[in-house]
Amino acid sequence: MTTANVRPLAAGNWKMNGTRQFALDLAMGLATKAAQAGAGLVADVLICPPFPYLESVIAATDGKLAVGGQDCHAKASGAHTGDVAAAMLADLGCRYVILGHSERRTDHQESSASVKNKASAALAARLTAIVCVGETEAERDRGDTIKTVEKQIIESIPDGATAANLVIAYEPIWAIGTGRTPTVADVAAVHGAIRRLLRQKLSDGGTVRILYGGSVKPSNAAELMAIPEVNGALVGGASLKVEDFWGIVAACR
Ligand code: PGA
Repeated sequence: MTTANVRPLAAGNWKMNGTRQFALDLAMGLATKAAQAGAGLVADVLICPPFPYLESVIAATDGKLAVGGQDCHAKASGAHTGDVAAAMLADLGCRYVILGHSERRTDHQESSASVKNKASAALAARLTAIVCVGETEAERDRGDTIKTVEKQIIESIPDGATAANLVIAYEPIWAIGTGRTPTVADVAAVHGAIRRLLRQKLSDGGTVRILYGGSVKPSNAAELMAIPEVNGALVGGASLKVEDFWGIVAACR
């Protein structure tokens, strides 16, 4: 349920999926839905395609949807083979970048310190950083969920973060791509703790958007999005089908 004065965000993380044609078809399908909804759309809608398809998707959707990257480098430019600078994403027309997704923390050994540096670079390029946090199943079983998530947030938030340039995505790692989700009470407890922490750390922390991610589907989105301090969703698998993602967008209110 959205917090007062907070416009929800429905974000699709396409990960490393699809072809150029798939990306264009999906983006155009969603842009058509957004255009049909017009002013009735109560959430911001964001898609994060793979890097090679960003430019075509941005051109094809022509501002009807927000577009973002799935990562950026901490440095502004230089000898970093294979990496992408935040300013390059901004130059293309991206408005957001996902940082510290658990798949990057695992596949590329990204620490919260490196996520913080990337988030600083994102802010310097005038992008909104979506900083992902979440516990492993072992951390949850030990009762360390909130401690883990709070530590990640404290270590990842860059100087200069505000409600206008920072989004937090809470994604329990064991819920990503598994079809399993925490209970409503568990999500409420974690989002409540994140909100309290953000209020302590940032003067406008009461209105930073806090997304839930991990096996969000059209069938569970309404229940998840009705939880206090859940201000939208970060969606993987279900963001790859127009009807499924739009069902989730409709539940973000
Ligand atoms: P999922 O992925 O929706 O497929 O669980 C979420 C994410 O990794 O952002």
